[in-house]
Amino acid sequence: MAKFWFLLFFSVAVGFFVMGSTAHDEHIVGGRDGWTIPPNATFYQDWAKTQNFKVGDRLVFPYTIEMYTVVEASKEDFDNCTQRDIKARYYAPPTVLELLEPGPHYYYCGVGLHCEAGQKLSIVVCDRPNRRRV
Ligand SMILES: *[C@@H]1O[C@H](CO)[C@@H](O)[C@H](O)[C@H]1NC(C)=O
Ligand SMILES: *[C@@H]1O[C@H](CO)[C@@H](O)[C@H](O)[C@H]1NC(C)=O
Repeated sequence: MAKFWFLLFFSVAVGFFVMGSTAHDEHIVGGRDGWTIPPNATFYQDWAKTQNFKVGDRLVFPYTIEMYTVVEASKEDFDNCTQRDIKARYYAPPTVLELLEPGPHYYYCGVGLHCEAGQKLSIVVCDRPNRRRV
């Protein structure tokens, strides 16, 4: 009997795992390069175009501690690389953010002139899975 319950539990757990992994994607920012000073100013926007961000997905920023940070900012701060109205600041890599709200989100590195150098990422999170944005 114990074996039966174990098997039942096991198959339910596997089922949840499989469902969870197909429904919610993890996006490794910058791919193999991670979160760093990019080779050019469009690097992170080019990467974002290859992704389909949905509510419930996770954004993972891999970076070197004390060299980079992740600042979540308003559009104005993002555009100007200022820090007047920042929403959050993260220092401990890897920074993993669950995308809970649909719409635009803005991130940049708050160290030195990294934002000016293009270490910045804006994404649009879709509230419906599998629906491509143009
Ligand atoms: C930016 O750098 C990436 C990676 O080196 C490269 O694939 C891409 O073509 C570059 N984009 C521009 C506009 O130079
Ligand atoms: C930031 O840039 C925007 C343009 O994107 C401009 O309209 C705005 O005045 C600037 N804001 C600040 C606080 O510098």
